[in-house]
Amino acid sequence: MIEVAKRLNTVEEYYFSKKLREVNLLIASGKPVINLGIGSPDLQPPQRVVEAIQNGLMDAGAHKYQGYQGLPELRQAITGFYKDHFNVPLSANTEVLPLMGSKEGIMHISMAYLNEGDGVLIPNPGYPTYQSVTKLVGAEPIFYELDQANNWMPNLEALEKQDLSRVKIMWVNYPHMPTGAQPTKTVFKDLVAFAKKHNILIVNDNPYSFILNDNPQSILSVPGAKDVCLELNSLSKTFNMAGWRVGMVVGDNKYITNILKVKSNMDSGMFYGIQKGAIEALKCSKMWFSTLNSVYKKRRDLVWKLAEALNCTYNENAIGLFVWAKLPEHIKAEEYIDLILKEHNIFITPGTIFGSQGEGYIRFSLCAQEDDLEEAIARVK
Ligand SMILES: Cc1ncc(COP(=O)(O)O)c(C=O)c1O
Repeated sequence: MIEVAKRLNTVEEYYFSKKLREVNLLIASGKPVINLGIGSPDLQPPQRVVEAIQNGLMDAGAHKYQGYQGLPELRQAITGFYKDHFNVPLSANTEVLPLMGSKEGIMHISMAYLNEGDGVLIPNPGYPTYQSVTKLVGAEPIFYELDQANNWMPNLEALEKQDLSRVKIMWVNYPHMPTGAQPTKTVFKDLVAFAKKHNILIVNDNPYSFILNDNPQSILSVPGAKDVCLELNSLSKTFNMAGWRVGMVVGDNKYITNILKVKSNMDSGMFYGIQKGAIEALKCSKMWFSTLNSVYKKRRDLVWKLAEALNCTYNENAIGLFVWAKLPEHIKAEEYIDLILKEHNIFITPGTIFGSQGEGYIRFSLCAQEDDLEEAIARVK
């Protein structure tokens, strides 16, 4: 018997990896399950993206190892994207690193900056990967609680009362998943000041800026932010390319160099055709987002109806790919979603997988077709 590494005992298999096995078993047994769990876009990427990968397959060198920093044209397209949509100027040669999805960036940044015992500020509720990666590298998660009453913004005053001396990284995610909270006017500015004061690297994980939102924002637009902040971004949700695995980390060269040091030891470049497709995606005009969002808007209206049919409440101003809904008092999220799955064959994510502050909430994905959403409403009614 070979004993597993101690680090493996600090984490569990990812919730969806486990739960979707159960859901798939139900489907295999003939149950007509409507899956409103994971946020995996079902819509097609832009046509020009599909053409670009197809055409790229015949290019000379298409099947070779690719450079560790991606094609220069891809880095250029990323800088164009940041300038056009966030008004953030970046150097394509020094301040951009393409990633295979933003999820891998969470590991690479942690490996580049965390030693055993370092503290990491993690939002509760928040994306579970921040916590698991922190544990895998032997650092210590320190949760900062987000509340509906405070519009899911961090309470920096309360945080300052804590001992922050061991804290090296703070994960921030606005627009926020799972709640859909938009960054307030001052939150990024306040976070930059906080990071400078306490010598903390803040990473804003920003994959939802373009979903049901007309005002995409980057933490890097705050003057001086590059000294202490990085930003992760992704094509997964913005261009319906989740399975392609394309994302990016952007920020000052001193950080990018260290992340590249990790990454170049982990993979041997991103497939050429994927990079060609990504370049085309990043060049899409604003028209792409309005077309995409007209679909999500109709779906969200239906999900709101479904939430109401389940006696839940929600915030109409929330954005992103999910509807975060509050359950009636005293109802436990995990028990409730199991009941809905059993009685109505509808799978919804319990808020608790995002942390203890998610108790009493459930999360609906907008990655389901209108017919399925109408069917879900009919079943519940
Ligand atoms: C908050 C957040 N960050 C990062 C990711 C990872 O996205 P990617 O597909 O770019 O790895 C997700 C995916 O669901 C997410 O919700």
